[in-house]
Amino acid sequence: MDYLEIEGSKKLNGTVIISGAKNAALPLLACTLLSKTPVCINNIPNVADVKTLLQLLENLGAKQTFESNRAVVNTISVNSTCANYDIVRKMRASILTLGPLLARFGHCEVSLPGGCAIGQRPIDLHLRALEQMGAIIEIKQGYVIAKAPKSLEGANIIFDKITVTGSENIIMAAILANGVTTLSNVAKEPEVVQLCEVLNEGGAKIKGIGSDELEIEGSGGELLKLDDITVIPDRIEAGTYLCAAAITNSDITLKNVTSEHLKAVVSKLTYMGYVIERNENSINIKPSSNILPIDIKTVEYPGFPTDMQAQFMALCTQANGTSVIDERLFENRFMHVSELLRMGADIKLSSHIATVYGPTKLTGADVMATDLRASSALVLAALAAKGKTRIHRIYHLDRGYEDLEGKLSMLGASIKRLSE
Ligand code: EPZ
Repeated sequence: MDYLEIEGSKKLNGTVIISGAKNAALPLLACTLLSKTPVCINNIPNVADVKTLLQLLENLGAKQTFESNRAVVNTISVNSTCANYDIVRKMRASILTLGPLLARFGHCEVSLPGGCAIGQRPIDLHLRALEQMGAIIEIKQGYVIAKAPKSLEGANIIFDKITVTGSENIIMAAILANGVTTLSNVAKEPEVVQLCEVLNEGGAKIKGIGSDELEIEGSGGELLKLDDITVIPDRIEAGTYLCAAAITNSDITLKNVTSEHLKAVVSKLTYMGYVIERNENSINIKPSSNILPIDIKTVEYPGFPTDMQAQFMALCTQANGTSVIDERLFENRFMHVSELLRMGADIKLSSHIATVYGPTKLTGADVMATDLRASSALVLAALAAKGKTRIHRIYHLDRGYEDLEGKLSMLGASIKRLSE
């Protein structure tokens, strides 16, 4: 199994090119199931989750190619509606095939994604919304067995909680339904917005894009004609590199970012004393002369993203004072804390609140990655730590960061991928 070896306490410099967003690419790949024409998707990150979903589409009978960040997917030949356990367990966002498969074929069997390190990750909101659209849902032997014999009907749906993939699933289901669907309390993440824009360019009729209320006029089963797509930049990858510069007090520039999507993250870094210059598609960060502690509450977009919580916790170990981090979306998203403690951090946990006492001198250690963003927090801590850190189980990182060691090496980090 691979691990990363990082020699810390080195400054970074130069420019890093941000890849396409994993969490935009996944719903865009799933929505190819709604298209009667082959779909070409550019700027797809070359990460494990994308390859897993492409494999799933191929297992359903689709034709797909993926090279140099460009995928071409043709789902006309899809002849199966079963998303099986051995793929779904590797990548829970496979649940994004549920809405499109059910809408297009009137039935499907999708393995329950199960939980993960950060929480139980239920899909009750996805299922309840589909039932409101006339679907018959049964859970059998770990699978969601969904049927809509008379096809899906438009409905007025109010999400009890804001759910990103839940919103994406139901938007895709509503596209082919009979009649109008209204969605309230729908997610407004940039990845959801891009999905809606792409669907409309393909012939869908979605109103209210970017707001928390959508109105979708279903096509009654008529498939879309999706056109060439270019995935938006990954705001979480970008935020992670900003934190890499911040934790090593370095001056770096990010290219290929949509800085509009990083307002909450940039605002926190600015508050901590970092000097940030934002242009439309690039961001420069310069060191802070006095790293101030910060209070963070994770909320849905455009608030501070939960996917940046672990990275900021690593950064807060270097702040001159006490920071308080309140994780409000997931019940177990503090798996990185015990590993940071091994490196010398001083963090106290109480339920969903972490109190980070800084500054602390971090020292290199053997640490274990547990989930995608926790792993990136360990990389950040290793960059700042004195001495050598080995990060094990980095398959978690490979799910969502394209060429992390290559990009960090280009910025001057001493980082190697080795096998144990
Ligand atoms: C998406 O996950 C992202 N994944 C996650 O990113 C991200 O952390 C999360 O949204 C929140 O922003 C993708 O887009 C592929 P949710 P998702 O449904 O859709 C509860 C990463 O690091 N909930 O918005 O699964 C749920 O338990 C990943 O890239 C229900 O109760 O998250 C959570 O508390 C990690 N019932 C809250 O809603 C449901 O049916 C938000 O979850 C669905 C969700």
